[in-house]
Amino acid sequence: MAEPERVLSPAQGEDEAALERSLRPRSLAEFPGQAQVKAQLSVFIEAARRRREALDHLLLSGPPGLGKTTLAHIVAAELGASIRVTSGPAIERAGDLAAILTSLGEGDVLFVDEIHRLHPAVAEVLYPAMEDGALDIVIGRGPGAKTLRLSLPRFTLIGATTRPGSLAGPLRDRFGVFAHLDYYRTEELETILARSAEVLAIDLDPGGRREIARRARGTPRVANRLLRRIRDFAEVRGAGRVTETVAREALALLEIDELGLDPVDRRFLRAVATVYGGGPVGLEAVAAAIGEEAATLEDVYEPYLVQIGFVLRTGRGRVLSEAAFRHLGLPVAPGRPGGVAGGRDAAGAEGQVGLFPPGSREP
Ligand SMILES: Nc1ncnc2c1ncn2[C@@H]1O[C@H](COP(=O)(O)OP(=O)(O)OP(=O)(O)O)[C@@H](O)[C@H]1O
Ligand SMILES: [Mg+2]
Repeated sequence: MAEPERVLSPAQGEDEAALERSLRPRSLAEFPGQAQVKAQLSVFIEAARRRREALDHLLLSGPPGLGKTTLAHIVAAELGASIRVTSGPAIERAGDLAAILTSLGEGDVLFVDEIHRLHPAVAEVLYPAMEDGALDIVIGRGPGAKTLRLSLPRFTLIGATTRPGSLAGPLRDRFGVFAHLDYYRTEELETILARSAEVLAIDLDPGGRREIARRARGTPRVANRLLRRIRDFAEVRGAGRVTETVAREALALLEIDELGLDPVDRRFLRAVATVYGGGPVGLEAVAAAIGEEAATLEDVYEPYLVQIGFVLRTGRGRVLSEAAFRHLGLPVAPGRPGGVAGGRDAAGAEGQVGLFPPGSREP
């Protein structure tokens, strides 16, 4: 069992993969939330199918546990295509990627998870493959070397990343469709929980469902994980039924607060508030103060704290909002930015699909 304080980490746990697969929706219709992304993807998919063409290369971005891998599988299924799965860090050499590319069938989907971690030399191979459907092979060395161009079957690259900003420009430019996933609304998480409870044969009543959804930090992976933990609690302490009362007791035991923040979140906030007077402070310094990796704080914890308006990213570092001070029960330092009061729905804007990379300006 993982340590209780890790229960809320939106990152995937080591032995969680098989269980997650069993909870994955298989079609866009079964996938709650992300309405905008789904609507637009379904148009692109339908158009590609009618023209019998491969779908444009698609980049899925967003915080961990929101459904990027799930959507990649769904898109392949809806295209009626086979999917090959790999990840940026798993492809060590250019030759490994060349081998994958040449083994693809016509119309296949190649899913590259954590694509921002692709080695630059490997990414070089991907550019002509994405753009011209070609693989350039260099034969020989030195002045006598020749380049041989092989043509590849038509394929769709689906990349997933928690850090779209870290993607090399030339790679980003070769995607035709960008889908950004955002945190889910409480009602959407309730729908997801109802389905998971059915799949896992968990007796979950509406009050219990709402309580878990409210505190799952907008993240399906966290909602599903809380559901299983609370089920254990319900079996040991109660009659096995997950009610609001059981959920509240279990969440208290797991040290998850009213907003769904866990001990790591609170240590993060508290360090900024007390050690650095509310900031601005660099993330590295906060990470050192609480003994966490800066990358973990940035990818896994901070996005939600930004989403609820507790942490502001400024040019000079991280700044804590007034709402965060109040949530911690600390006196508010003068001149704090307001932020958003606790308890509101996590989800802000809907996710988006677009033809331009996140942050780019449309011409
Ligand atoms: N819209 C959804 N409906 C139902 N379940 C979902 C949804 N989105 C995600 N899930 C569930 O949450 C879990 C995590 O989803 P997934 O692995 O697709 O996230 P991810 O964005 O790829 O995360 P990571 O960045 O860690 O790779 C899965 O078990 C999946 O079933
Ligand atoms: Mg994933």
